[in-house]
Amino acid sequence: VERVRRGREFVQLPGPTNIPDRVLNAMHEPARDFAAPAFVDKALSCLNDLKRVFQTTGDVFAFSSNGHGAWEVALANLFSPGDMVLIPDTGRFALSWAEMARSLDLEVVMTPTTMRHPVDAEAVAEQLERDRERRIKAVLAVQVETSTGMLHDMGALRRALDATGHPALLVVDAIASLACIDLPMDGLGIDVVIAASQKGLMLPAGLAFIAVGAKADAVSQENPAPRKYWDWRSRRGSESYMWFYGTPPTQMIGGLRVSLDMLFEEGLENVFARHRRLAGAVRAAVGRWSEAGALEFQTVPKAARSDTVTAIRMPEHDPDSLRFFCRDHLSTAFGAGLGPLQGQVLRIGHLGDLNEPMILGALAALEVAMRARGVPSAEGGVAAAVEHLARDIVRGSS
Ligand SMILES: Cc1ncc(COP(=O)(O)O)c(C=O)c1O
Repeated sequence: VERVRRGREFVQLPGPTNIPDRVLNAMHEPARDFAAPAFVDKALSCLNDLKRVFQTTGDVFAFSSNGHGAWEVALANLFSPGDMVLIPDTGRFALSWAEMARSLDLEVVMTPTTMRHPVDAEAVAEQLERDRERRIKAVLAVQVETSTGMLHDMGALRRALDATGHPALLVVDAIASLACIDLPMDGLGIDVVIAASQKGLMLPAGLAFIAVGAKADAVSQENPAPRKYWDWRSRRGSESYMWFYGTPPTQMIGGLRVSLDMLFEEGLENVFARHRRLAGAVRAAVGRWSEAGALEFQTVPKAARSDTVTAIRMPEHDPDSLRFFCRDHLSTAFGAGLGPLQGQVLRIGHLGDLNEPMILGALAALEVAMRARGVPSAEGGVAAAVEHLARDIVRGSS
């Protein structure tokens, strides 16, 4: 007999994330005339306000799609078959992006990864320096590799690129970091940033976004590769039908309007600080638990542990059985190991519409599960998270 569940389920996945009631309520609206000014104005205000989130004066385009579609938008607009791209391997998501690029007949070179340490910007620079014929058209980098919980330093990558004088574009996947971790697109000189709706933007999956700087736009104008739905060139202009190239997802845009309002009400700096604080609580707990020797952070350097997702290794124990226990007995969903890390890690998502008691609840659920399943963990993980939060809140408010 299936157990009756009460209360809210905890969604501690690194996407989709919790959808605020305000966003859900805004999405509960009937079909409307999408050519009427009320919707056209709302959609335009969203596309304009997204520039603040991407921190760019470039164009932001929206597509009815998930993040995989956003990857293809970048590839289809910037490259032609035979073009070469350099993708620093960071784990599952870099590998999948590379696979997509190969499917589109691009040539892919990758720098290697241990999946325990961040991208070596010097190794990327060396690859570019070896490319004397300037065949590499772009570096495609994942800011937060969701499968390892690792933050890769886009500033360091930019500086390494600049030092080589190589003209390659810098294209960044911020799907697991936009509106959670600071990424000043124009400030850093990033040419393209891509994102999706179901993470920091607190919406269901279904919208992909791409922010395009002037240099990347010029490349796309010259790119002879055939493309249609993904072509950002045709998404511009005053013809609102073309902003979504067909029937727009009006309810999603209704939700997006509110999610943007919520981000601006809180203030992006405060949104970043909240993510840092909650991530600090997770790291405090995991750090304490790991003193018993059974657990460790997937990401070795402290500075590279992402504020949006934490991957925990447990070499002697099965992370999936722990995850299933949390799902089946504690109404808490954690993320599985993906790609090369399948069956090796448990991932805690801590991004989006989340607060302190929610994160404490999730950490407590994991502590219960480890106790129940006999995974050795040092006492006091949740207590360490409590300590961290108490200190951080006092520091932040003084
Ligand atoms: C960093 C990153 N890139 C790309 C994707 C793919 O996005 P989607 O699952 O929406 O297609 C994800 C999804 O988790 C991701 O975390």
